Amino acid sequence: MIYKESNLVIEFIKEQIKEINTSNIAIAKRLDVRDIDRLYELKLAKNLEVLGDISCGECHNASDTALPISKITLNEAIAIVRFGNAKTLQGGMPTYKSFNNGKDPFIADSGLKRRLEVLYTDDFLKTVKQKSME
Ligand code: HEC
Repeated sequence: MIYKESNLVIEFIKEQIKEINTSNIAIAKRLDVRDIDRLYELKLAKNLEVLGDISCGECHNASDTALPISKITLNEAIAIVRFGNAKTLQGGMPTYKSFNNGKDPFIADSGLKRRLEVLYTDDFLKTVKQKSME
């Protein structure tokens, strides 16, 4: 009799543990979602901080235009600023020279790299879609 009852208690405790584990997983998942939301906020704030004082900030200043937009490397991002791609040319982004020739938009290599390297980080790249086929 005692043996039977303690078996029931053990079963009951096992059930409880299972339930706790299930809700722990659910809570952990919710935290993940919140972390991603926080990353989006930080990404936009960083864009405003490092691009807000130059012309780039006129376009890259909202949640859907904040950089990075796609999963590319820092060097690929720099190349897009220098040469453009289908989307930037279509979207009206100028190509920027690395020196001032008195007529074209320009941004020096050092300044461009310094600004983009704090945006194209492993963390912020978690907020973008996979590299799109162009
Ligand atoms: C007139 C608006 C405009 C200005 C000014 C502008 N951009 Fe852009 N930029 C765009 C558009 C539009 C795209 C393409 C967005 C897309 O791929 O959906 C883009 C894309 C980019 C990309 C590629 C994003 C990615 O991760 O795929 C980089 C890098 C970039 N811009 C950097 C800059 C920098 C640096 C400056 C300033 C020196 C700048 N842009 C100025 C409009 C602008």
